[in-house]
Amino acid sequence: MCGIVGYVGPREAAGILVEGLRRLEYRGYDSAGIAVVNGNGLEIRKAAGKLSSLEQQLANAMPHGTIGIGHTRWATHGAPTTPNAHPHTDQNERIAVIHNGIIENAGSIRKMLEQRGHSFHSDTDTEVLVHLVGEFYQGSLEEAVATALREVDGAYGLAFISEDEPDVIVAARKGSPLLVGVGEGEYFIASDASPLLEHTRSVVYLDDGEMAILTRDGYRIRNLETDRIEKPVNQIEWDLAAVERGGYAHFMLKEIFEQPESLWNTLRGHLLEDEGTSRVTGLNLSDEQIKQLDRIVITACGTSWHSALIGEYMLEELARIPVEVEYASEFRYRNPVVDERTLVIGISQSGETADTLAAIREAKLRGARTIGLVNVVGSTIAREVDGGIYLHAGPEVGVASTKAFTSQVAALALVALRFARLRNLSILQGRDLIKHLQELPAHIQTILDKAPEIEALAERFVRAPNALFLGRGVNFPAALEGALKLKEISYIHAEGYPAAEMKHGPIALIDEMMPVVFLAPNDAVYQKVLSNMEEVRARGGKVIAIVNECDAEVERLANACMAIPVTHELLSPILTVIPLQLFAYYVAVRRGCNVDQPRNLAKSVTVE
Ligand code: M6R
Repeated sequence: MCGIVGYVGPREAAGILVEGLRRLEYRGYDSAGIAVVNGNGLEIRKAAGKLSSLEQQLANAMPHGTIGIGHTRWATHGAPTTPNAHPHTDQNERIAVIHNGIIENAGSIRKMLEQRGHSFHSDTDTEVLVHLVGEFYQGSLEEAVATALREVDGAYGLAFISEDEPDVIVAARKGSPLLVGVGEGEYFIASDASPLLEHTRSVVYLDDGEMAILTRDGYRIRNLETDRIEKPVNQIEWDLAAVERGGYAHFMLKEIFEQPESLWNTLRGHLLEDEGTSRVTGLNLSDEQIKQLDRIVITACGTSWHSALIGEYMLEELARIPVEVEYASEFRYRNPVVDERTLVIGISQSGETADTLAAIREAKLRGARTIGLVNVVGSTIAREVDGGIYLHAGPEVGVASTKAFTSQVAALALVALRFARLRNLSILQGRDLIKHLQELPAHIQTILDKAPEIEALAERFVRAPNALFLGRGVNFPAALEGALKLKEISYIHAEGYPAAEMKHGPIALIDEMMPVVFLAPNDAVYQKVLSNMEEVRARGGKVIAIVNECDAEVERLANACMAIPVTHELLSPILTVIPLQLFAYYVAVRRGCNVDQPRNLAKSVTVE
């Protein structure tokens, strides 16, 4: 979703802002802009489309000044046009704002302001907000913003500058992440850490309801009631190299290939081989509390929801605790049955997904204990849950989630192992699972080494209008994930189903144009999946089989076969998904799609 960057210090701001916006591109956007205060006043440049359009404008007229704000916008209120791009200014064009989120009562405020003579140049809620701030301005930007924010409903991450106060950025957060970057004699505001990393690793995370006042001499955090709040300065562990492409054609490909390492980073330090269990102290759950759990609800969106489904199989099979998986967007508005003996697990790569955050807050409200499996350190979900596990997969920049997914499944395995050992898993079964977990990075590497085979396979299916992904048991969610990967980056319509469901409808779609990808590791339902393959084959469908062994029977049934290493049945989605990620990637590249920033998609969905 939208991205925010702001700078105040001794250096020229415009270049820093544009570079920051480039680092925020991965979040998804459809227009971009910057505002800088120079010696004469505010200078604003903005353009619809990609950052290159803004850069063309800047090439002719770069604004000069050492304080400024920049924004990438993902349209919500109003089309993705230049007038709707941020920054927006107040009625007198002396205050500029950038905004992530939605002001819900913008309509009524706009009417009120129009009656007072205001005229607007965009369709945005953001312009309404900055007009309101202008209306309240009496010599202090900080106070005008605080007063205006008392009047608005909705979600925001905001940064304001004013030509009347050329040394101050006023930022505010409610529901949309913001952090202050603390440099040497310079200060930054950003919606995530990526634009800050080349300048500083010291950051202060804002919480909802807080404001940050940045000047050339320092920064101060406050809220609408209190003038100053003391907050810790955190150190970001990721370095710049980790968010750069490092020689790969796309971030997605880099992140797929990082999985042997990222998966190990998730597991590292958590496996207790002798005891056949895992050490996950961050959950903040005592053995007694775990034993007393009645049930578990896992809530998430998109790819994270698919890993949640795999977690359901693991936790029920190993720990024998009833598990339900809920779309966070549904959970938050239902009347869910949860209490203090329910554990609610929120899964999120970004830790900022609005629906997942709201679902967790709802669960907490009802007395449930909450834990988060989150990748981004310091993100809102990570800070609001009662406990959790950081995935340590490293920054995931490609909009299509890949390494976060495999790390989420690994983290769920750690949770399931700990819970299961406290309930009914033997030490030998625990050790066996650990052995298989330890083997996974090498197994993933074996599959990655076959990337050229998958590329050749993708070449054959590049013109398919539809695709089906079928799996059974724990590989049904992996099939869903394979379909999501393909559709979101290649725009081919793809569906995932439990293989046996095919007969209840989707089989009608099968013809010689339809690739059907079967996930069929040698597990308890292997023979049954082979029967499903037979059914597709009989109707002319093109079978792609992901199996443990391309034996004679599979060779007979499949048009293409790929063998992957054998692992524990419950861990098999970590391996079956790798060829699917590569398949989606190569198909999308071959179709000329923007793999890292697919149309209409955002990396972090911070609006509901
Ligand atoms: O950051 P989160 O894991 O909470 O994000 C959830 C979904 O928005 C995300 O997984 C989305 O489905 C991706 N585009 C999948 O590749």
